[in-house]
Amino acid sequence: MGNVIILGSQWGDEGKGKIVDLFSDRFDIVARYQGGHNAGHTVFIGEKKFVLKLIPSGILRPGKKAVIGNGLVIDPVALVSEIESLESAGVEVTANLSISNRAHVLFPAHRMLEKMSEGRPGRVSLGTTSRGIGPCYEDKIARRGIRMADLLDTAFFRAQFDSVMEEKVAIARTFGIYQEMDLGRIREEYEALAERIRPMVCDTAMLLNHAIRDGKSVLFEGAQGTMLDVDHGTYPFVTSSSAGAGGACTGTGVAPTRIQGVIGVSKAYITRVGAGPFPTEALDGAGEQIRKRGNEFGAVTGRPRRCGWFDVPLLRYTAAINGFDSIVVTKLDVLDEFDRIPVCVGYRLGSEQLAEMPATVREIEKLEPIYECVPGWSTSTFGISSYDDLPAKAKEYLAFLEERTGVEIGCISTGPERTQTIVKAGSRLEKLIG
Ligand code: IMP
Repeated sequence: MGNVIILGSQWGDEGKGKIVDLFSDRFDIVARYQGGHNAGHTVFIGEKKFVLKLIPSGILRPGKKAVIGNGLVIDPVALVSEIESLESAGVEVTANLSISNRAHVLFPAHRMLEKMSEGRPGRVSLGTTSRGIGPCYEDKIARRGIRMADLLDTAFFRAQFDSVMEEKVAIARTFGIYQEMDLGRIREEYEALAERIRPMVCDTAMLLNHAIRDGKSVLFEGAQGTMLDVDHGTYPFVTSSSAGAGGACTGTGVAPTRIQGVIGVSKAYITRVGAGPFPTEALDGAGEQIRKRGNEFGAVTGRPRRCGWFDVPLLRYTAAINGFDSIVVTKLDVLDEFDRIPVCVGYRLGSEQLAEMPATVREIEKLEPIYECVPGWSTSTFGISSYDDLPAKAKEYLAFLEERTGVEIGCISTGPERTQTIVKAGSRLEKLIG
């Protein structure tokens, strides 16, 4: 059994949570490699609903280990609240979760500083989740961040916290975005949270490498999606981390030579939350119909998601960046009621037809999608769990996407439940997940 990365191939919210939860059964460890509590997916345990933001969903499978890698930024308040809500529902977290000692710690001042870029006159608002993710990664790259290992070193933490926060307060005052905060109280709160987290913090890179050496398998779970990757996405309308497959190595300390496959997750259509270019956005009634049928509202912020049609050139681009072996197409049933389904098969920029994704938002905003319409199936696919039971026209739609993107569709999701899934027999995906 190999080690596999599962990640989003669009702008996030592709339904990775369900897929990771489903496949985590086949792996020993599930490891998150980037992002923070800007991510979120909803999981039901019996009647109880949880929104997991930092903890990999593998934690819900008894006996499986979950890892929060060094590539994440962690708000200890959010983390401990997530741990406590899971433990109060009977999920064993403390014994099964390991947190990297090299992950960065997010503070309330990071949220305050996010107002520098969001909503200040003269700055382009990115429509972030306002969780302080970007400013925390800024500190990491500027080499003044506080890491988990520093938080646990109490004497060092006190001195470091005071000096870093003094700077943040000065910046916030200068730019007129300062919000009164009791830094002494925050420091004490973080010291108390550190004690709660301490038993779980370790060198997760060594933990993962030793586990792999001993024959254990790891599922690497990406958050957000490739088009939000800080290098490869629609910059600057991106998140601040490496959401693509490369991030799995830098964000966990596991080498590319130890990873056997990459699986992308894509909706049967496409959505985006927050600002930024979106060539196939459906601004008419069809977009609204998708939003309603797909319940397309953010799990973390509750914001309505922008909806549109499947974008073949975009998928070809993210397949190249990530080296997808196979993709999972989710939410096929959301398209059940459309007579004709437009699919973007190319882009035009002025008089040119483009083969590649342009680098700048200025160009992406000017792209004109070239659509081909595929007949709809006008019957319910909800809950179908066998490929043979799909309506012929739904199979044709999937075959069309497969042929145009050049990527295998190894799995199809037709509803939120684990059972509402088709894994195609003989596919590369089936071989990868064992
Ligand atoms: P940030 O990650 O909060 O800095 O937000 C940057 C951009 O990424 C915004 O457009 C957010 O809406 C988007 N974003 C962040 N996390 C997610 C996610 O989990 N799903 C979808 N979009 C996200």
